[in-house]
Amino acid sequence: MKEKLFDYGYFRPDHFLKYPIVFKAASGSTIEDINGKQYLDLSAIMGAVNCGHNVPSINQRLIQQVDSVWTSNFFATEVQLEAIDKINTILPESMGLAALYSTGAEAIEFALRLARAITGRNRILSFKDHFHGKTLGTMHLVQHFPDCYGPVPDDYRTVIDSDGSDDPALIEGYLDAVPVDDLAAVICEPVVGYSGPRLPHKDFIKTVRKFCDTHGIVMIADEILTGFHRCNGFFCSSQGSVNPDIIVFGKGLGNGFPISGVACAHPLSGHISSALPGSTFAGNSLACAAASGVLEFMEQHDFPAKTRMLETTFQEYFSHPRFDTYGLQIDGQGGLLSLSFRDTSQGQIPQLYLMLLNEGVISSHTQQYLRVSPPLTIDKNEFASGLEIIGKCLDAICAPGNK
Ligand SMILES: Cc1ncc(COP(=O)(O)O)c(C=O)c1O
Repeated sequence: MKEKLFDYGYFRPDHFLKYPIVFKAASGSTIEDINGKQYLDLSAIMGAVNCGHNVPSINQRLIQQVDSVWTSNFFATEVQLEAIDKINTILPESMGLAALYSTGAEAIEFALRLARAITGRNRILSFKDHFHGKTLGTMHLVQHFPDCYGPVPDDYRTVIDSDGSDDPALIEGYLDAVPVDDLAAVICEPVVGYSGPRLPHKDFIKTVRKFCDTHGIVMIADEILTGFHRCNGFFCSSQGSVNPDIIVFGKGLGNGFPISGVACAHPLSGHISSALPGSTFAGNSLACAAASGVLEFMEQHDFPAKTRMLETTFQEYFSHPRFDTYGLQIDGQGGLLSLSFRDTSQGQIPQLYLMLLNEGVISSHTQQYLRVSPPLTIDKNEFASGLEIIGKCLDAICAPGNK
């Protein structure tokens, strides 16, 4: 260890140097830093660690694979085939696994190529507040980082407002105004994650599906954050008979090990080859071992009950009338929950995030939202104790005289 963190130069100045905490160990929902301070993890590290940190049975799968093959690229390994089979069993019946990657953004890029290959069209329609990654291609779909890139080629994307997400008629209106001639795909998050979490209107997915069906457009659901029980079941964009054409997933599949994937509807599978699937580490055997371990673990535990518990405990705790007088709002679904203030001008959320960190609670935040997305395996009492700390910090910020 170097003496001063700042000796690490320019690595992640936005975070690493701003919050100089160095993790040493983790288990379940607890993380310990090198000074022995314990943190309660209410972030699941960007919503990836759905099964909790350091799960013995998942570790075991990785340890076994470390002594075997790590990577095979054009060739297969047994553990890769096992992971593919397991992923296929949790997909909606109408879909199959088309490709594996390491990161979410890479998988989205493939989904975009696939949609273009299927339709022979170019443009992609996305929603203003929905997030899809930070490669140049995926950044053109989002509006979170307007300063990071220059003019966007108009033939590549169209972004529409999702302010109407509370009102499907408004979304329908926005959609109807979009020129569809060269439109290959619509991409959306079933629950807005990065700019929230916020739950859209219950008919949002159906509305997008209807628009895609009317015009022969591919519907891509980005379930990188919402998938693997984070919100509602393995994939919350799949609602009864309404299914997307492509589902993209990542994060929770590896429980912290980098692996992502893309599934597509069976009739579209003939286009997979021309969309150029694969990359050096795609389907990496260690990643597949982690994914197999995750899926086995998910089979053995009642994740739907866990996410219901998280949502109910969160809603009950913040239903205390004092939070309403603070102007607090809650949103989200399952294990992807948020706090925000009706009046966004005060900038309390970054302050709340820092206070929580000080109190030993790790969450994540934007200017407007505090995201509460713990490992889904967190114990009810542990979660409740974390909410108590959030409540106390909110009292200190919003009613400092009432101590
Ligand atoms: C909904 C969504 N899509 C895409 C991504 C990008 O995934 P990655 O950071 O693994 O590239 C993220 C990451 O936070 C995400 O939440």
